[in-house]
Amino acid sequence: MLTMNDAALDEDLEFRTHEIKIHPAEDFEGMRVAGRLAAECLDMVTQWVAPGVTTVEIDDKIREFVFDHGALSATIGYRGYRHASCISLNHVICHGIPGPKPLKNGDIMNIDVTLIVDGWHGDTSRMYFAGEPKVKARRLVDATYDALMAGIKTVRPGSTLYDIGVAIQTLTERQGFSVVRDFCGHGLGRLFHDAPNVVHYAQFKDRFGTIHKASNTKLKAGMFFTIEPMINDGKPDVKLLKDGWTAVARDKSLSAQFEHSIGVTEDGVEIFTKSPKGLDRPPY
Ligand code: MF3
Ligand code: CO
Ligand code: CO
Repeated sequence: MLTMNDAALDEDLEFRTHEIKIHPAEDFEGMRVAGRLAAECLDMVTQWVAPGVTTVEIDDKIREFVFDHGALSATIGYRGYRHASCISLNHVICHGIPGPKPLKNGDIMNIDVTLIVDGWHGDTSRMYFAGEPKVKARRLVDATYDALMAGIKTVRPGSTLYDIGVAIQTLTERQGFSVVRDFCGHGLGRLFHDAPNVVHYAQFKDRFGTIHKASNTKLKAGMFFTIEPMINDGKPDVKLLKDGWTAVARDKSLSAQFEHSIGVTEDGVEIFTKSPKGLDRPPY
C-alpha cells in the first residue's frame, strides 16, 4: 500500500500518469496468472506460521517459492526494501520487516506479497495466527476480511471509488473498529503502484478540521487496482518507526489487513488473487 505522500513520490512515477488505465481483455489473462501465483504463495505460507518460527524464516520460504516458480518479487529492491514480503505483527499496521524474533502463541500477523509474472503484478495479503489468538483478535480479523469483501462487492462499471469507501468504513465502524487513513490501495498492472489511489474511508475530519472525502471517480471495465483495508482495534493514527518502513498503531492497538488485486469487468468484478484452495482467511 502507499502512503498518501508516497503516491506522489512513487518510483513508478516516471511511468505513472494520473489517468486510470483501461485494459483490454487479453491483459486480464496476465493478471490472472500473476494473481493466482501470488495467492498460491500465500497458501504455501499457511503451513509455516506457528509459535517458535521467525518471520525471516517465513520470508525465506516466500522468496524460494517466488524464484522456484520463475517469478520476481516486486518488493525486493523496491526503494531499498530487501525482503520478499512484509510481515506485520499485532500492532504493526503494515510494512513490517521480517526479523529474527520467534512468533509467540496468540500473535496475529499480516503477510503481504507482490509477485511479478510476465511483467504483471499480483499483490495480495492475508492475516495468519500463530497458535490460538484471543477472541478480540479473531473478531478484528473477521471484521477486516468482511470489510475487504464488502468493498469488492460494490465494484462494477458505473460505481465509484467512494462506494468502496462507504462499504468499508460503515462495516468497520459499526463493529467499533477504525479505518486507517494514511495508507491506500492502488492501481496496478505492469506497474506496482499506479493511479488511482483507493482510500478505504468515505469521509473523515483530520485533526486540523479538514474534511477528506473519497473520490467520486466512476469505475470502468478494464480498470485494475487493489483494495487493502487496514483496520485498528483502537484509534486509526499511525506512527512510522525509525527504520523508515514499519508503520504501527500509535496507541499500540491491534491492527489487521487483507488485500486483493481485482479487475473491473463488464458486469462486475474479477478477483485475481483468490486462494485456489479456499484459504482466503484464517483459521486455515
Ligand atoms: N505490497 C505492498 C502494497 O500492498 C507494498 C509493499 S512495498 C514494500 O502495496 F517495499 F514495503 F515492500
Ligand atoms: Co498493494
Ligand atoms: Co500488498
